[in-house]
Amino acid sequence: MPLPSSALLAARHHRLREALNARELEALVVTALPNIRYLTNHGGSAGVLVATASALTLIVDGRYSESVRARQDSPEACPELQVRPVPTSYDEVALGVLAELGVRRPAFEAAHVSVARHGWWTRTAQARGLALEFVPAEGVVEGLRIVKDASEIAVLREAAKRLTPVAQAVLQSLRPGVAERAVAAVIESELRSAGYERPSFEPIVASGPNAALPHYRAGDRILASGDALVLDFGGVLDGYCSDLTRTVAIGDPSEEFVRVYSAVLDAQQAAIRAIRPGVESTVVDAAARELLTESGLGEAFSHSTGHGLGLEIHEDPRLARPGGQPPTVLRPGMVVTVEPGAYLPGWGGVRIEDDVLVTEQGYEVLTSVPRHLMVV
Ligand code: GLY
Ligand code: MN
Ligand code: MN
Repeated sequence: MPLPSSALLAARHHRLREALNARELEALVVTALPNIRYLTNHGGSAGVLVATASALTLIVDGRYSESVRARQDSPEACPELQVRPVPTSYDEVALGVLAELGVRRPAFEAAHVSVARHGWWTRTAQARGLALEFVPAEGVVEGLRIVKDASEIAVLREAAKRLTPVAQAVLQSLRPGVAERAVAAVIESELRSAGYERPSFEPIVASGPNAALPHYRAGDRILASGDALVLDFGGVLDGYCSDLTRTVAIGDPSEEFVRVYSAVLDAQQAAIRAIRPGVESTVVDAAARELLTESGLGEAFSHSTGHGLGLEIHEDPRLARPGGQPPTVLRPGMVVTVEPGAYLPGWGGVRIEDDVLVTEQGYEVLTSVPRHLMVV
């Protein structure tokens, strides 16, 4: 799919300017790579962007200057972008750009800058007689990214859809006697075949008792009849993540497995049905948690119900219990996962996860893999 057009980037810049004005920030030094990509289409592994109300300066080293320059001649050019090479170090150039722009109080992304880096900026500016006061800011660009625009929704829809053939192929590869790591290899290979650039995260293949560990990865254990098997994977398409979990039965499931599965599925469906504009994120979490609690599985549901999905696998909004971050009011264009689970140490666990778009009317489930208990 094409990268966001120049017009779309211009709309993002307009919203960035509004965010800078609202916070009375003179400039923002953007160092988080997903944020740089969102604002400029530069998807490289290094870069620093200095953004003011009137200028965007992208600092890139020699590995990327040619690709950035070539894109500036395309329909995906970043409007009004100034590109600066890195002869010495990124941070040297950033200080110089700030000084040239006459910025006195640059904001920086406090969640993404180490204490050491901040220390270097302040010490070096002082040593050079630059009157720069670095101001911490949080969530400026992330606050723009939380509601996806049309181009992002199109990519996220496609990224979710392509998981269907991947899941089918993976399910066909399952049988007693296969090692978890071999299943992970099938997942990774099928993701590539489906056109994803890479997995969104290291696939989780958790069988039998390992399924009681929500973020287990994949190990040596051999699948055995009677296992619950949690498969959690996704792929990155054009920079955007997908994320799916299914729990399947290897051989005939026990009554307890069927009971836990059905409780988790009911909880997941209730949470999905709770999604609509105007609803607080905590309400979606509560919809799942209340049902699992009624089934005696409240304690077994040891994580939050879901998370935002986009250029990163975990972004805002978080569908979590009250008490952490303040809740987010859902708005059309947000994309979240809904992934309740129940984990019973010694036995195993069940998790079911889908990707969901918040629409004007309510929601649209983007992933389309069957949700009933599959026995292989
Ligand atoms: N394994 C990542 C997630 O589902 O959130
Ligand atoms: Mn997942
Ligand atoms: Mn997830």
